[in-house]
Amino acid sequence: MADRVETHYAGARDLPAQIADALRKAGKPLEQLKTADLAAIDEFHIRGRKATLELAERMRIDAKSRVLDIGSGLGGPARTLAETHGCHVTGIDLTASFCAAATAMSDWVGLADKVAFGQGDATKLPFRDASFDAAMTIHVAMNIKAKDAVYGHAKRVLKRGGIFAVYDVLQGEGGPVLFPVPWAREPSISHLATPADMRRLLTRAGFEIVDEIDSSEESLLWFKEMVARLAAAGPPPINFQLFLGADYPEMARNQVQNLADKRIRTVSYICRA
Ligand SMILES: C[S@@+](CC[C@H](N)C(=O)[O-])C[C@H]1O[C@@H](n2cnc3c(N)ncnc32)[C@H](O)[C@@H]1O
Repeated sequence: MADRVETHYAGARDLPAQIADALRKAGKPLEQLKTADLAAIDEFHIRGRKATLELAERMRIDAKSRVLDIGSGLGGPARTLAETHGCHVTGIDLTASFCAAATAMSDWVGLADKVAFGQGDATKLPFRDASFDAAMTIHVAMNIKAKDAVYGHAKRVLKRGGIFAVYDVLQGEGGPVLFPVPWAREPSISHLATPADMRRLLTRAGFEIVDEIDSSEESLLWFKEMVARLAAAGPPPINFQLFLGADYPEMARNQVQNLADKRIRTVSYICRA
């Protein structure tokens, strides 16, 4: 199962080189790069950098904090937190090519000493108990059946009282998901929890849920705007199509329908360990 998930995401060969090439073609040489130049590809979730900043505001972190990002992808959320709060972020992700890209991109924007990325599985976090002040996970558990293991490990590695911020795509009440979607081309690697499942899972793992925020309406607008841009101007040089492949526009159109029909919801949970 984990292998099939990695295969889904690992579409591009030598991803760091491909991203560097696309940036150069877009008139953004690596020497002058800023984190914002990467946001179209490295904040790999609905509502992008804005959603990461919203979570960060709730995580009670500062320059002394050690933060864990579970399913860190290309490292955008980790870099955003490190840049805006000065904290150190450790990212772990199943997809080796994403970890390599995350490390390279952090170097390009001068944040290599504030973030570290390694390959690993969210259901078996290789960290000691109580080793982080805060943790987050953004759009990852949709690919994971054993969610109790993910949240159990998150609770274990967090210090008592630390904030765990979860932002995920959940199963809505409007019917089954229309595939392909950015996290899966078919149902076998898609495992969406409902909001009720999430409350149960997080509570059972030992978290106190402090807040639950449904951003589905805003997510629908975000995807509608993206689909309109793709239709009008084609894919920009730097976008998710670089690794998701040629069917990304179809995925985006399906997301508009999935959100409009309430087949999916986007919901954040702010939890205390
Ligand atoms: C949609 S991306 C989100 C990446 C990142 N959190 C972000 O928001 O930019 C989903 C990520 O989850 C990772 N993932 C899926 N299953 C995982 C698992 N069992 N353990 C660790 N990472 C996993 C994938 O490799 C992928 O990078």
